[in-house]
Amino acid sequence: MRSLLFVPGDSERKLAKGLESGADALIVDLEDSVATDGKARARAITAEFVASSKTGPAIYVRVNDLTTGLTDDDLGAVMKAAPAGIMLPKSTSGDDVGRLAVRLRVLEAENGLQDGVTKILPIITETPLGVLNAGTYGNCGPRLSGLTWGAEDLAAEIGASANRDEDGRYTDLFRFARLSTILAATAAEVAPIDTVFPNFRDTEAFTRDCVEGARDGFTGRMAIHPAQVAIINEVFTPSGEAVAHAQAVVDAFAAAGNPGVVAIDGKMFDRPHLKRAERLLARVAG
Ligand code: COA
Ligand code: MG
Repeated sequence: MRSLLFVPGDSERKLAKGLESGADALIVDLEDSVATDGKARARAITAEFVASSKTGPAIYVRVNDLTTGLTDDDLGAVMKAAPAGIMLPKSTSGDDVGRLAVRLRVLEAENGLQDGVTKILPIITETPLGVLNAGTYGNCGPRLSGLTWGAEDLAAEIGASANRDEDGRYTDLFRFARLSTILAATAAEVAPIDTVFPNFRDTEAFTRDCVEGARDGFTGRMAIHPAQVAIINEVFTPSGEAVAHAQAVVDAFAAAGNPGVVAIDGKMFDRPHLKRAERLLARVAG
């Protein structure tokens, strides 16, 4: 998944637009973009939308976090529509994913769904404890489809007045959260997904930010506006050149009988290069 577009779960208009956006996945939101007194209505709209959208982008639903007392009602409403996955906000550790997985298992059984089909995508840096526990997602099992991060809730939680400096660079706290996500996802062998970019009119700054994210190891990104989707898809699709190079590395190792190190055009390539090339080819293969 390169692009994951957030769509408020109470907006039929935006939900319909989301399907046309070109996003690889939609994240239908029952959390922050839906007011407290609108949750019940949003659940009903979301369930119907999920049930009727089985051929386009993968549909994830973002539920309210496990401390709100709302999670079970969210899941109860949407699991009968069999979403591709659930996004868990404010996850504080791999144990939270485990707690959600137990609920999903029961709901899958009750709704006649195959055990384990529902993926989980947690947002792991929205609380201070979540950032510190980034390394605990390694044993979450095959439901875990990636890890992503958030800067807005963390700023609010800590009391930081901004998450970027005058030049638009994240401050240290948020760089730490961002890097922790890349490391945590790579360690757990799942996709690191970059966070949203709220200033959706500034496509130039967004493109720059995406390029930096892809350079640093993110393999996809969340969007909040349809205009961001094409940029994400473009930046996070490995170029033909990159794919050809990865294939050349894999081929060179195979041709040499899979040694520790090979030379290609006068440059050394060893096992980490091979691993990186294999990962890129696996990503392109889907
Ligand atoms: N998904 C689908 N369609 C969207 C969309 C989204 N996230 N954001 C905007 N659109 C649609 C609008 O409905 C509009 O279509 P219309 O003119 O046919 O109604 C079109 O795209 C252009 O929208 P625009 O006028 O540029 O933006 P806006 O002022 O209507 O909306 C936001 C701005 C931020 C409110 C909106 O983009 C949004 O709701 N984003 C998602 C918010 C969210 O889910 N946040 C939680 C995660 S951080
Ligand atoms: Mg939030």
